[in-house]
Amino acid sequence: MKFLSIEYILIIAAILSIFWLGYLQFWTAGWTPTPKNDIKLLIESLNVQDIDKIYELGCGDGRVLTSYAEHGQEVIGIEIDPIRYFISKIRAQISTNNNIKVIFGNYLNLDLSDADLVFVYLSEKANKQLEKKLSNELKGAQIISYTYKFPNLKEEKILKEGKRNIYIYTIQ
Ligand SMILES: C[S@@+](CC[C@H](N)C(=O)[O-])C[C@H]1O[C@@H](n2cnc3c(N)ncnc32)[C@H](O)[C@@H]1O
Repeated sequence: MKFLSIEYILIIAAILSIFWLGYLQFWTAGWTPTPKNDIKLLIESLNVQDIDKIYELGCGDGRVLTSYAEHGQEVIGIEIDPIRYFISKIRAQISTNNNIKVIFGNYLNLDLSDADLVFVYLSEKANKQLEKKLSNELKGAQIISYTYKFPNLKEEKILKEGKRNIYIYTIQ
């Protein structure tokens, strides 16, 4: 059977990979996880009393999401990359916390008006695109942005300075 030869399978796999990379490049900020030490810093900086609903936009493999789950009443992550979404889902399922929700999709379509805290680790381009939505939808919520600043928002605090800064904003 010529159609099932290894050459055909490899060609199809190569074509699918090109589409896959193109899709991710177009929609996403790419994937790099937040390092463990910085997740610890993020968690230590939380003012636990005030946090009801935490969103992570582009939750990757769910490592930050599941750490936040120890401290928020409800923790919601959204991810556009199906493989990372699936890993996040599994991480949430095996977590001892049952307050984690993982959504597959684009955060630009998610209503964030009930957020108390929004965590992002995206890119300069993504933050530029996102800041109007955050300014319009958030009321009194905190935004934590890992590595990248929002171009027109004034940060309240820089939690960590160095190679990868952590910026904290409050939207009134
Ligand atoms: C730099 S990674 C950070 C992952 C995770 N937040 C962390 O800190 O470990 C950015 C993630 O955002 C996701 N992403 C980018 N654009 C997105 C969009 N429009 N909607 C949902 N997820 C998106 C990417 O697929 C990627 O997993």
